[in-house]
Amino acid sequence: MDGNGRWAKKRHLPRAMGHKAGVEAVRRTIRAMEDFGLEALTLYAFSSENWKRSEEEVSDLMGLLRFYIKQDVEELVANNIRLHVIGNYKAMAPDIVKMIDKVLERTADNTGTILAVALNYGGQDEILRAARGFAQKAAIGEIVPEDITEAHMASALDTAKLPPLDLIIRTSGERRLSNFLLWQAAYAELYFTDTLWPDFGGDHLKAALQDFASRDRRYGGR
Ligand code: IPE
Ligand code: MG
Repeated sequence: MDGNGRWAKKRHLPRAMGHKAGVEAVRRTIRAMEDFGLEALTLYAFSSENWKRSEEEVSDLMGLLRFYIKQDVEELVANNIRLHVIGNYKAMAPDIVKMIDKVLERTADNTGTILAVALNYGGQDEILRAARGFAQKAAIGEIVPEDITEAHMASALDTAKLPPLDLIIRTSGERRLSNFLLWQAAYAELYFTDTLWPDFGGDHLKAALQDFASRDRRYGGR
């Protein structure tokens, strides 16, 4: 989800207003994902690098996160959506951790679309955490290096319970992964759009899915 700041700048508004408009785009996109019957959607909400932003902006984003959870939790529960979080969210403010854990618990038995939210997430950090976990197990003799397979690695990542990654959508004209789902992106299709995140919605998601449907995925096979 990129381009909130530029969306606000174009309108001579403070960046916080761009983030606020970004929340509306989140709502539209979640509704569309349910309509389209997607199995899972992961939103890159806050990266492990976003802490480098000004104190004011980080605090605005955290405030918005608190506001969003409070406002929308009932709708997520009622719509049978299962929340999932990737990233080291436990290192966030204690009240946010508590709120998230509560929503995770409340939606755990839901059987509909999975809404994964990346919070304090970085792809390199995720791989590092998994590697440290393996090293700790090896150090106490629980595993030997040969035990570590691709499948093992996948199951040690935050996305272990998510389906394989099919499509990455990057908004706002940037053409980078920016530390998002690095391991998982190995054979994902990439879709870039100039649309700024606050302008994104069902029609944009549909266009991305139509583009995805036209791709020929060979996984290196031929
Ligand atoms: C994305 O928009 C907001 C976050 C997910 C933190 P940006 O804040 O990166 O917007 P630009 O790139 O400045 O336009
Ligand atoms: Mg940006």
